Amino acid sequence: MKKCLICNSEIEKFIDFGQQPIANGFLLEEQFEKEYFFQMEVGFCPKCKMVQLLEQPDREQMFHENYAFFSSTSNYMKKHFKEFADSIIELQSLQKNSFVVEVGCNDGIMIQNFMQQGIGHLGVEPSKNVAQVAKDKGINVTTEFFDATLAENTIPKYGKADAIISANVMCHIPYMHSIFEGIEKLLKDDGVFVFEDPYAGDIIQKASFDQIYDEHTFLFSVLSVSYLANMHNLEVIDVQHQITHGGSMRYTLAHRGKKKISSNVAKQIQIEKDLGLDSLQAYQEFTNKVLIVKNDLMKLLNQLKKDGKKVVAYGATSKSTTVTNYFGITPEHISFICDTTPTKHNKFSPGAHIPVVPYENFRESDPDYVLLFAWNHAKEIMEKEEEYMRSNGVKWIMYVPNVATI
Ligand code: SAM
Ligand code: TMP
Repeated sequence: MKKCLICNSEIEKFIDFGQQPIANGFLLEEQFEKEYFFQMEVGFCPKCKMVQLLEQPDREQMFHENYAFFSSTSNYMKKHFKEFADSIIELQSLQKNSFVVEVGCNDGIMIQNFMQQGIGHLGVEPSKNVAQVAKDKGINVTTEFFDATLAENTIPKYGKADAIISANVMCHIPYMHSIFEGIEKLLKDDGVFVFEDPYAGDIIQKASFDQIYDEHTFLFSVLSVSYLANMHNLEVIDVQHQITHGGSMRYTLAHRGKKKISSNVAKQIQIEKDLGLDSLQAYQEFTNKVLIVKNDLMKLLNQLKKDGKKVVAYGATSKSTTVTNYFGITPEHISFICDTTPTKHNKFSPGAHIPVVPYENFRESDPDYVLLFAWNHAKEIMEKEEEYMRSNGVKWIMYVPNVATI
């Protein structure tokens, strides 16, 4: 029996994805033999309501000098993070002498907005290659993992923070108590800690199982984040749903008793109870839905293969690693995955070893069907490709929440 990383109770397992590789571990042929795999199982804690991986690779295996995910590949996300930054500047009335810390700033997509306004800032980003891109933009970055020790060491140098922000990072970190201890210390008395991550409510409702991969230790809900915050004298004072990454939640936390609590918090907790996020059953039903998607997508891909259709995939996302490896999708089903990220090019997808090629190969290859792995960017991508797809009779294959061709 595995123990909950948050409250140490026994976890109830509800899905097993089998052996999975590092989701962002795009590799060369000569690396196939030594590729790392781990058993990816997910469980629910009945006490604190946290959903979590039962096992996770060491952090250095995922976040390093060759980390393949660069945040700024999406124009939509640039706009989203500008709005996120502006909302923090307004909420905390930030001035040039204020201090903002971003945990996991990647290539600077969000923190650049504070730098541009001359606001005191520090980006914390352990993956050296993406951190270097942020540094080249003039952003102040330390290439370390954020934890309680880093937070303590930051105070003598910079003072305490008016705001600590983070996006799509908190859910990656198993040592959550060290993070929250650090936040509690580093945050000014009237400071806020604002973070967003893919939301368990959306994942359950849409059966978007591919949000589960090695990096995502936790699937947060307001219920579980409130429990965790409470263990560290913090409290959730606001929540705002976001459409990013297939549905995310932004949580605003403050020191307990220091700020007014928005009515959004109680409302969202009620929504979660109505959805059943406080009991195992909703997660078991999720597993049943995922098995239907698996069956339907493999039936479709096998039929297309039999019919001699050309199928390619769009977006070598980390999410696609779970889809290909759990469903058994191979280069026999999909000729290649096209992607705009140069570091992924001319490599193979983790585990399934499907070739990853530059975006330019996409139209040239004259496909019949395109499996949209980057479905969370569907609006941006479909707008870009609409004319080409329509005039050439090419169809998208979607698999969230159901398998469909459009
Ligand atoms: N915030 C960006 C965004 O939303 O696009 C990047 C998200 S990326 C999926 C996760 C980032 O978290 C990676 O750049 C990784 O290096 C970083 N990271 C992982 N553990 C961390 C930690 N303990 N402290 C700070 N950053 C961390
Ligand atoms: P994400 O789902 O983790 O944000 O990753 C998106 C991936 O999709 C990333 O590798 C970049 C790629 N991508 C494209 O190839 N074309 C696009 O238009 C967009 C928005 C993303």
